[in-house]
Amino acid sequence: MALVNDNYLKLKAGYLFPEIGRRVTKFAGENPSAKIIRLGIGDVTEPLPSAIIDAMHRATDEMAKRETFRGYGPEQGYDFLRDAIAKHDFAARGANVAADEIFVSDGSKCDTGNILDIFGAGNVVGVTDPVYPVYVDTNVMAGRTGAADDSGRYAGLVYLPVTAENQFTPSLPDRKVDLLYLCYPNNPTGTVATKETLTKFVDYAKANDTIIFFDAAYEAYITDSSIPHSIYEIEGARDVAIEFRSFSKTAGFTGTRCAFTVVPKGLKAKTASGESVELHSLWNRRHTTKFNGVSYIIQRGAEAVYSDAGHKQVRALIDFYLENAAILCRGLREAGLTVYGGTNAPYVWLKTPGAMTSWQFFDHLLSKANLVGTPGSGFGAAGEGYFRLSAFNNRANIEEAVARIKQVLA
Ligand code: MLT
Repeated sequence: MALVNDNYLKLKAGYLFPEIGRRVTKFAGENPSAKIIRLGIGDVTEPLPSAIIDAMHRATDEMAKRETFRGYGPEQGYDFLRDAIAKHDFAARGANVAADEIFVSDGSKCDTGNILDIFGAGNVVGVTDPVYPVYVDTNVMAGRTGAADDSGRYAGLVYLPVTAENQFTPSLPDRKVDLLYLCYPNNPTGTVATKETLTKFVDYAKANDTIIFFDAAYEAYITDSSIPHSIYEIEGARDVAIEFRSFSKTAGFTGTRCAFTVVPKGLKAKTASGESVELHSLWNRRHTTKFNGVSYIIQRGAEAVYSDAGHKQVRALIDFYLENAAILCRGLREAGLTVYGGTNAPYVWLKTPGAMTSWQFFDHLLSKANLVGTPGSGFGAAGEGYFRLSAFNNRANIEEAVARIKQVLA
C-alpha cells in the first residue's frame, strides 16, 4: 500500500485563511442579509494600474503573431525583468544584487516553502511568534518538527516571541539555529525592523552559520526612510541571507502571480560531511527542474512596474492602501483599542478588548459587526490576545468597518 507523508498528520486542522473562509461562509449562509466586510486575508482589491495592463495587452498581442510568439521562457525569468529588478529594487538602494541572482517565480508563498527542498532535514529552524503560518507549516510537512502542543507550538522549532512587551523586536535565539525566518515589514504585526536590529541578526547568522530567509513582500509600504527595504542593505548580508520579494502587495499581482527570490552567489551551506556548497546552483537546479517560469505576459506586466508611469501609479496604489491603514488606526484608537503597525505596512495589529481571546473577538466582530479579521492566535501562541485587520479594501468599506467597530465597542 502507498504510504502518506506522516508529517502532514501533525499539521493543525486547516491552514488559517481557509479556516476563516469556512467560518465566514457558514455565517453568511445562516445570515444571508448580512453585508460582510472582509479585512481578513491580505488580498488586494483595486484594479491593476493602467501602465501594467497596457504592457500585458501589448504582450498578449505579441503572442498572437508568429514572429513575436513565445513558448517556454527562461525558468529563472526573462532578462528584461531581472535587469529591471536588479537596477530599481537593489542598485538604487545601494544593495549589491546581480540580475542572475534573481529567480522570478509565481509567488513568495511558494518560494518560502519550496526553498526548503535544498536544505537538509536536520536543520534547526527559528521563527518569530506570531508568524506567517506558511513558514511553520512547510517545515512541519518537511519533517523538521515534532508534534504541536496545546498552544499550537511544534516541538523542535525555536520560537522568538514578538509582542508589545518587547516592542515587537525579537531577541536573538538563545541557541544555535540553522535556518531563521524574518519578515519585514512584518506580517502579521505590521511592525518594521531597524537597521540596528537587522545588523544584529546578520551578525548572529555569521557567528552561527545560520541562513536567514528574509521575506520582504511588504517592503513597498515602508514610509520611514531610515528603515531598510532589503536585507542586502546590511553589510555582510550577502553571506547569510536569501531574500523573497513579491509583486502581489506591491503592484496588485495576487491574482496574476509574480514574485522573485534572491540567492546571492557565494552564499554557502554545508553537506553532512562538512563540504561547503553554493546555494545558488542548488536553487537553480531545483527551480529549473520543478518550475517552467512565469508567463511572458505577466512578466511584461511586472516590468512595467518600473517604468515612469508604472512607478507613479503603483506608488499611488500603495499610498491608497496606506491611507486605509491610517483610517483604521485612527478609528480603532478612537474606539479605545490599542493599535500597532499600519504606518509602514498594510496590516493593523490590535489588542483584543478586555479579556477576549483572539477567536472570541473574531466571532464577536463577525456576528455583531459582520466584519472579518484574522485572529492573532492563528499566527502563533504569542499572537493570542491580538487581532489583525488588513487595509486592503475599498475606501467605503474601510470607513464602514471603522463605524461598525465603534458601534460594537461603544
Ligand atoms: C496574508 O493575509 O497574510 C497574506 O495575504 C497571505 C499571503 O500572502 O499568502
